[in-house]
Amino acid sequence: MFALMVFLVALTQTQSSKRTFKQCVDESNISFQHLEDLLVGTSFANNTAVHAFCFCQLERLDLMTGDGKVHLSPLKRMCQEYKTEECEEFDKCERLTGRTKEETAFLIYKCIFPL
Ligand SMILES: *[C@@H]1O[C@H](CO)[C@@H](O)[C@H](O)[C@H]1NC(C)=O
Ligand SMILES: *[C@@H]1O[C@H](CO)[C@@H](O)[C@H](O)[C@H]1NC(C)=O
Repeated sequence: MFALMVFLVALTQTQSSKRTFKQCVDESNISFQHLEDLLVGTSFANNTAVHAFCFCQLERLDLMTGDGKVHLSPLKRMCQEYKTEECEEFDKCERLTGRTKEETAFLIYKCIFPL
């Protein structure tokens, strides 16, 4: 799954991002410990701050809109281009939904970055 990190970095650079990574950290109130766990991929705490952080990140990468619509197509396109992952996995991720758009983002984030 390491290639995905590369995709995401590439995506960030093509986006005229409305928000920065730091803004997502600040706005979501995610704790340092939970952020570290999430980035290193050791665990995903299930709380509203983590949900808000995932939503901010996916919105920032244009993989989700502000009103919660999910578009993983940029990620799928990159995946197909590099053919380093099973690209069909993203279809499964794209169909996940939570009770809120933030929870949906959390489920999708976990699906994109399985532990
Ligand atoms: C983060 O904390 C600030 C200040 O307490 C609050 O205004 C904001 O709504 C919180 N953000 C989230 C996503 O809960
Ligand atoms: C996260 O917590 C909520 C509330 O406790 C629970 O309903 C939900 O199933 C949990 N989600 C995951 C993926 O563990």
